[in-house]
Amino acid sequence: MSDLINIALPKGRLGEKVYNMLAAAGYDCPEINDKDTRKLTFENPEKGVRYFWVKPSDVAIYVERGAADIGIAGKDIILEYSPDVYELCDLGIGKCRMCVAAPKGFKYDNEKTLTVATKFPHIAAGHYASKSIDIDIIKLNGSIELAPILKLSDVIVDIVETGKTLIENDLEPIETIIPISARLIANKASYKFKAEGIKKLANALV
Ligand code: PRP
Repeated sequence: MSDLINIALPKGRLGEKVYNMLAAAGYDCPEINDKDTRKLTFENPEKGVRYFWVKPSDVAIYVERGAADIGIAGKDIILEYSPDVYELCDLGIGKCRMCVAAPKGFKYDNEKTLTVATKFPHIAAGHYASKSIDIDIIKLNGSIELAPILKLSDVIVDIVETGKTLIENDLEPIETIIPISARLIANKASYKFKAEGIKKLANALV
């Protein structure tokens, strides 16, 4: 295990925001701002940090397996994959909600199995199991809103942030399953062996 704290940042706006918060707290790594680079890891040994950009849905895997000591993951990913990691704190950013959405005017018919398209099959299954409703899950990897439009599914379970994607596709939220925000997560062994460094860094984020 290196002495540096390895940090998995989710690619995109949320990861950039978290990096800026860390940089402002003294954990900067100037070469990360070089827009022309295709490099995926950036380290600043003086500050004791190494950053990686990873696909947001992969952050929890890197942290669970110890490839990263800490990472920033949405609560949606944590609920979907239940990684064996410590959830250190709610960062209060990346706020959105997990919703069931359907075409306007949709009416549930309990004579038919409800078809649900989603990137989050475990969350969807848990939600409908708690209501004792039988469903047929269609796992998709993106553009979930297309599914009810093309009659691939009756409803979707997906993230709603501004609600713009639903509105522009004549869909509407019919239930909120759970509010979502970004969490700081830590590998369990790293949290023991790099406790001081990780706690100091976490304090910079809350
Ligand atoms: C997410 C989500 C919705 C959209 C919601 O998709 O799956 O499609 O954002 O945002 P809004 O409420 O602000 O419109 P993402 O951008 O991650 O793309 P995807 O279609 O590849 O899942």
